[in-house]
Parts: sequence; C-alpha cells; structure tokens
Amino acid sequence: MYLSRFLSIHALWVTVSSVMQPYPLVWGHYDVCKTQIYTEEGKVWDYMACQPESTDMTKYLKVKLDPPDITCGDPPESFCAMGNPYMCNNECDASTPELAHPPELMFDFEGRHPSTFWQSATWKEYPKPLQVNITLSWSKTIELTDNIVITFESGRPDQMILEKSLDYGRTWQPYQYYATDCLDAFHMDPKSVKDLSQHTVLEIICTEEYSTGYTTNSKIIHFEIKDRFAFFAGPRLRNMASLYGQLDTTKKLRDFFTVTDLRIRLLRPAVGEIFVDELHLARYFYAISDIKVRGRCKCNLHATVCVYDNSKLSCECEHNTTGPDCGKCKKNYQGRPWSPGSYLPIPKGTANTCIPSISSIGNCECFGHSNRCSYIDLLNTVICVSCKHNTRGQHCELCRLGFFRNASAQLDDENVCIANVCDNELLHCQNGGTCHNNARCLCPAAYTGILCEKPRCQEAGGCASGAGQRAPPRGCPALLLLPAPLGTARPRLF
Ligand SMILES: *[C@@H]1O[C@H](CO)[C@@H](O)[C@H](O)[C@H]1NC(C)=O
Ligand SMILES: *[C@@H]1O[C@H](CO)[C@@H](O)[C@H](O)[C@H]1NC(C)=O
Ligand SMILES: *[C@@H]1O[C@H](CO)[C@@H](O)[C@H](O)[C@H]1NC(C)=O
Repeated sequence: MYLSRFLSIHALWVTVSSVMQPYPLVWGHYDVCKTQIYTEEGKVWDYMACQPESTDMTKYLKVKLDPPDITCGDPPESFCAMGNPYMCNNECDASTPELAHPPELMFDFEGRHPSTFWQSATWKEYPKPLQVNITLSWSKTIELTDNIVITFESGRPDQMILEKSLDYGRTWQPYQYYATDCLDAFHMDPKSVKDLSQHTVLEIICTEEYSTGYTTNSKIIHFEIKDRFAFFAGPRLRNMASLYGQLDTTKKLRDFFTVTDLRIRLLRPAVGEIFVDELHLARYFYAISDIKVRGRCKCNLHATVCVYDNSKLSCECEHNTTGPDCGKCKKNYQGRPWSPGSYLPIPKGTANTCIPSISSIGNCECFGHSNRCSYIDLLNTVICVSCKHNTRGQHCELCRLGFFRNASAQLDDENVCIANVCDNELLHCQNGGTCHNNARCLCPAAYTGILCEKPRCQEAGGCASGAGQRAPPRGCPALLLLPAPLGTARPRLF
C-alpha cells in the first residue's frame, strides 16, 4: 500500500539567510551559487559551491508498510493501555476516524494531546513473530543533517533494525541495530555512538540505549547523526569547517549520511518481562506517534533550490549542470569532465562549473564538435581544431569524406554526419537507381547491391543483363536469389 503523503502539489524551498541558523556564520552556508562582483572587466559572475537548506524531509516521502494489512482496526480489535495490561478495552477501528491509527499519523503535526499515532495489529498470533517493515522513500538522494528520531506511543520495541538504501530500494544496508539484549538478538556486543571515534565513525553498531522495558517512560529512539558529526566538528558542532573538509575528501563519509530510502524493521514488540503474557496478547503491538527526518536534497553542491513538483524532488541545477542531483554537465557544457562542487576552501568553496564545449574565439563556432580553436594569423581567421563526430571544416560544419549530412539532425547533433550510403554528387546510385535520404539506393528491379551495382540473379542461375552490363558472374550467392520478375522497371526497395 502506498500512501500518498503529498500535502502540496508544488513546494519549494529556497535558502534565505536565517536568523535561526544553529551554526556560526564564519564558515559559510553555501547558500548562494553565484554573486556579481566588480573586476577590471566590469561586472562578472563569481561562482561558488552551494547547497539547499536543510529541511523537514518527512513532507516529501512515501511510506509503505509490510505486511500491507498490519495496521490495526480492520477488523476492529481491542488492545491494552500502555503500561497497564489489565485495562484492555481500548479500541482500534479503521472505519471510525477517532479510533483509527493509519500510517500518515506518524508524520502529522505533533504537540497535540493526546497525540496521534499509527498502530499495528496486536500479537494475537503469538508465538508467530510480530514483524513490520516501514519503508520511507524519497525517490531522490538526500543528505541527512540531523538525528532521525522515532517516537513510540507504546513501549519501544525489544528488537529493531534501522536500514538505509542508496539506490532507491534495490539494495539495503543496516544503519543501526536496537535491542534490549544485543548479544541475544543480533550476536553483537552492545555499543553506544559515544564509544566510537573519528576512525570508527562508520561502524554499524547495536545499541541497548533505547530499548529498555515496557514500563519506562521514555518513548524515543535516535539515530545519532549529530554525535557522528561531532567527531569532526566538535561537541557543539562549532567547527563545521572541519566536518565539511572531511566530507569533501572522504566519499565513504559523505555516502554514510546519504540515503534514498529508510526502512524501520520492527522485529519484536516491547515485552518487558522474560515471558510473553499469553493471556493478554492484546498488550503487545507497535505504535509510533512521530518520525523526524531532517536533511537536504543532494545536489552535488550545484544548487540551492530543491523543487517538489509532481510528487518528485529535484535540484534546480546551476553551474550549467543538469540531472536530478546535478550529476552531469548540460549539453554543450562538456568542455571538461563533470565534478561535484567542493566545500573547500572554506567559506566559499569551489563551484567546479561546467564549461562550454564550444570555444568561442571571435565568431568561431564549432557546433559542439570541437572544443579547440586556432587562430590562423595569415588568414586572420579562426578555425576549429580536431573536429569530432565525423565532421570537418573551419567550423566543423561539413561531413568528412564518406559521411553524409543526416537531414533529421541539427548541426550541433553528434549524429549529424552518418556513414550512409549515397548522395547525388559523389556517390551515385548506379544503373538508374535513385538515392533515398542518403541512406539507400532505390534500385530498378533488375539490380541489387548497396549502389544497385549487382545484377539480380535469375532462378535458373543466370543474371539479368542491362545496358552496359558486364558478363554475368558465375554462381550467384544464394542470398541474392530473390523471386523478382525480370524486366520490371518499377524500382524496388531492398
Ligand atoms: C522486511 O524486509 C526484510 C528484508 O527485505 C524481509 O526479509 C522481511 O521478510 C520483511 N518483513 C516483513 C514483515 O515484510
Ligand atoms: C551557463 O550557461 C549560460 C548560457 O547558457 C551562461 O549565461 C552562464 O553564465 C553559464 N553559467 C556558468 C556557471 O558557467
Ligand atoms: C539522424 O539524426 C537523428 C537525430 O539525432 C537520429 O535520431 C538518427 O539516428 C540519425 N540517423 C542516423 C542514420 O544516424
């Protein structure tokens, strides 16, 4: 079941300098891609590395539950109050709005009392495991900028795995394991993020910090992005420059905080005691009131604006880049290989803009078939050097010998010159054939071959003789044995 969570058809966020920025200003925000500056040559653009502002990413996701019918209330059922196994007359009923707990309530505005929450069916099929996968998909690479926070309305699960995908859900990696007993649940030693260091920051750990029993008051589970940032930026993230320096040079670190999807695998509900109370299975279920995911569109430091249009996020690329993540150079701007912008040097970074493929010296245009021009003093003119794509000429405006103008391609198209077959000047179709679109000769029925140069064979083994025709070759190749009637003047396509 895909729930459409898109509250607005078109949302847009633009970075504006914000007084609420939690970080010091000195190291730069990367919130503009270019500014106009004055130089000796007048006003020119100065390009900089840039990125969209960090925002609440739960507005732009799709949520999917597995099993699809795991939400409580269809059919209606009763469950026990949190923390009180003997008050079991609470009701979940999907058809009554006040008693329904659909998945979108994990992402609505919190702060109301009582809070709204998604709730699963109860563990009535015990001892069959009660397991739920909650998949959050953005269909866009995003970079996490703050802790992922999941608030449970019931007890926090005894066992849970947070997973991530970087390839739109094709493959998954664990992000963090959560259990009351890591060794028992996952054969892992319990650890906390604080046990890690700069060198082990990418380690996937199992933590027992967030899984204490059913009766405790705490409802929250974290995936600690900020504690991991702090290994580079210091305890209060004062030195973001240092973090950005690391992100710039260490792809693995950057990728660690990048996702296209997240998956919460709920493996065992809060039990709290050693034994499951089989007489009151309506005590056991999952309920989540809130999920927080903050991040920004990954635009490779080539955009400050990320647009949400048609249920899709995409970067508004600058620096003459293009693609959903600004991951390539625009057409005609492939003068050097694409590369992401760089945070360095702090604070402006480096834009690494894409440069035009066509050098423009004077009026010289090479139609995108060369990126080098040469000035010929003697002729006082500029010519394109090393024309590619089978072109030639001062402006790469002609086709090389043996190649012909593709009438359906523009002059700057890579396919403008094609090895075709005939034209009406140099490469004539023979024996009265006519050239069709430079692509093929339309031959009279008695002839065949690319240029109508071969007489068609008779079934008897002989060949047609036409005006000026040489003696027929002996033993015509079988492939040419076509049942074409002799003497038909009508041209045939072969
Ligand atoms: C959750 O996802 C995992 C990994 O794909 C799969 O093995 C498991 O069966 C899923 N669980 C449910 C309840 O769908
Ligand atoms: C991108 O190309 C346009 C022309 O299409 C040009 O005006 C602009 O300055 C270029 N931007 C960069 C960053 O090179
Ligand atoms: C001619 O150019 C068009 C447009 O680029 C292209 O689709 C087509 O394949 C080209 N024809 C040949 C024979 O290459």
